Formats: sequence, structure tokens, C-alpha cells
Amino acid sequence: MFSIMNVLRTLLAKLIAFLYVVTTVAGAGLPFGASELPETPDDFTPVIRFAVCSDVHLDGDPEAAEAQRLAKLFDTVYAYSESQEYKNFDALCVAGDFTDQGKAEQYDLFNSIIAENKKDETQLLVCMGNHEFIDTRDVDASQGTRMFEAKMERDDDTSTVINGYHFILSSYCEDGHSFTGKCSWINSEIKKAIKDTGDKPVFVFQHPAPFASIYGSISWGDPSIPAVFLKYPQVVNFSGHSHFPVNDPRSCWQGGYTAFGCGTLSYFETELDGISGNFPYSVEEAAQFYIVEADAEGNVRVLSYDLITDQFFDNEYYLTDLAKRNFDYSYAKMKLRDDAPVFPESTQISVDTNDEGNSILTFTGAEDKYVVESYKLSVTKNGIKVAEDNFSGKYMYLFEEDVYTSDLGKLEPGKYNVQIVALNAYAETSAPFSYTFTVK
Ligand SMILES: [Fe+2]
Repeated sequence: MFSIMNVLRTLLAKLIAFLYVVTTVAGAGLPFGASELPETPDDFTPVIRFAVCSDVHLDGDPEAAEAQRLAKLFDTVYAYSESQEYKNFDALCVAGDFTDQGKAEQYDLFNSIIAENKKDETQLLVCMGNHEFIDTRDVDASQGTRMFEAKMERDDDTSTVINGYHFILSSYCEDGHSFTGKCSWINSEIKKAIKDTGDKPVFVFQHPAPFASIYGSISWGDPSIPAVFLKYPQVVNFSGHSHFPVNDPRSCWQGGYTAFGCGTLSYFETELDGISGNFPYSVEEAAQFYIVEADAEGNVRVLSYDLITDQFFDNEYYLTDLAKRNFDYSYAKMKLRDDAPVFPESTQISVDTNDEGNSILTFTGAEDKYVVESYKLSVTKNGIKVAEDNFSGKYMYLFEEDVYTSDLGKLEPGKYNVQIVALNAYAETSAPFSYTFTVK
């Protein structure tokens, strides 16, 4: 929600992002444009496949959408795996908030969905989010950890190896909200992993994003984790907490290490003007996760999937030579690849009057190489602003028509002009789309 802290964090993030862009572009030798996005080669041959999700928020009701989505995730990944040459679904990794409050019946529902849907070939790897502490944190947050240990029959932290790849999952400390007491353990496990597998990626999971990395990490990130990860370019990190969409290109970030935001199986949140607490449109129509594959040499493919419409998002990532700091998805490179949104010639726009006498603006969306994050519009009469609006794009809803409406209120008769600007994920703005209309 809006707060002065969020504003301050946003300003700090913008400063960090600016400095980062300047230093990275200078260091990367990319003053005149960036290379094309990497593509997965045809002969890519996985030796491991895992799925990553977070923020399921099971409330204990087996009929709830979230419970159905978690079950559907298994069906989807098994069906996809069966269609591939490498047929295993080796692990499901859950980056926290799989329960809504950490209640016993919510753990029981989670475990029953796992029992009914997971095959023996698939390992379950899971760490705690802040919501696993909600039921106990006001009295004694450590009881949340005890609940996790008892119900999940494991420690709150996990370090394991699957098919030659290290997986490290860390839960919040027993205070339920910090990682300062966990950083030393995470650091030593990454070190051990690198001693074992050298340049190969190390997969690390925790609930909040490392601060100032992926989209949502300013408002919802943890400040103590980045110092650990920045030492190890092999780290490929997955986090949840923000509920920001996976198909926003900023949900993949590289800069010293690699980070992915896992979205949610429950409800979306986004930013508007850099401020979190924006809940766009059909926020509960949210069910996104990743399928990750890696080959024997350490190359990694990350696919993004939408369970709501049963299809892959366009966002596919191919990670190579991480130990050599080959960071094709850095903010700076992605920003250079993207161009400002464009309103196509086919753009349709109209203003109608509704039953209450309000003027309702309707227009079709702009186009961008990745996503149109938001729109800003301003309505003037005789050069004086009489209405304005600011709202999200619908890029996270593949089932939605890319059409927008804005209630301009009751306008006096006369001639008006509306200017609409579209912004992409990297704050690049379209030329204003101008439309003149008359209210009778
Ligand atoms: Fe959550």
C-alpha cells in the first residue's frame, strides 16, 4: 500500500537503477544498441527439469481457485514433460506463501494436493514465506517455523543436489521477517556448491527478492541478501512475495547474478508510477509459474507459463556462461533492446456518454516489443486540463482484449482534446496519441 517508505524506496531504486544503467552500459560496451535476445539452440538437451512457483496462498478450502491451480500445475508440467525428449519432472520448488496464514489445515491441504498429484520422480522443495508466520507471529513467530518443520517433515532450510545441480532454499529467520541470520548459511551453501560444480549455475530460492534486482524488489525485496549473491555469478535466484507478473520483462534481472520473480497462483500486484500497491483489473485471475531446464554443460532455459489460459508466455530465457558474467538480461541491455511503445494506425478511440451522463473514453492499446506497462491520459478544454487518468496495461491477462476505458466524469458541452501516452517496462514513453471529441 502507498506509504512514505515506499516513496523513499522508489526514489532510492530509481537512483540505483540510473547509476546501474550508466555503469553497466559503460562497462558492457553497448553505447549504440544491444544484441538480440539469446535463443535456445535446437540441440539444447536437458538433463534436469523443475518447476518454480510461489504465493499460492491456500486458505484451507480445497475448492478455492488456488488449490485447483496448484493441482493443475502438476498436470501441466507432467504433460509438457511427456511431450519432450527429456521426460522427467524432477522437482517442484515453492518459494514461500504456499499457505495464506500458516494454519494447520492450510498445510494439510497443501500436503494433500501434493500427495494426490506429485509422482515419486518429482521432489518437493519448499521454503517459508511471510504468510507461513501470520498465524503465530504476533505471539511467537518461531512457532511458525515449528509448524513448518512438523507439517513438512523437514528443516526450514534445504540444500540438496539433483542431477548434478545444487538447490538451496532458505526460509525467513524465526522472527518471520528477516534473513540477516540466514545469510551466513546461504553463503556457505553456495560456496560448497561452487566447489562441487564449478561454473555451473546454483539455484537459490527464498521468499522475498534480493533488494534492487527484479521488478517488485524495491517495495518487497530483502536488503541483506544481495551482498551474498553479488559474490557468485553462478547464482540463479527465484523469489516470490511481490505477486508481480512473470511476463513483465523486469521479472528477469541480471547484474552480478541472475534473479527471477515467480509471480503468483493467487492474485497480482504491480506498480504504477514506481509505487507498489496497484491491483490491476481482474487481479485474482493470476496463475503463473516457471518451467526450468538445464543441460549437462550448465546452460539453462527458463519458460514462463500461464495456467489461466494454458499457454506459455512469450518470455523465454536462455542463460549461458554465467560464471563469465554473461548477463544478457541486465536492465541496461533490456532497456536498450526495447523501443518506446507505438499506437498503431489501426488504433480505435471513441467517447460515449453513459446512463449517468459521464463521458467514457474507450481506446485500443499501444504496441511494444515487450509490454505496455501503463497509460497516462490528459483531457483539456481550451488548453486547460479538465480530466486525467493513469492505469495499468493488461499484459498479464492473456484472456483480455487489449482495450481500455476511462471515466472522464461529467463534462460540460464543448470541444475537448485527449492525449494518451503509453509507457513500457523501461519507462520509455510513446508519442502522445491525440484525439479531439465534442460533448453535446
Ligand atoms: Fe504472497
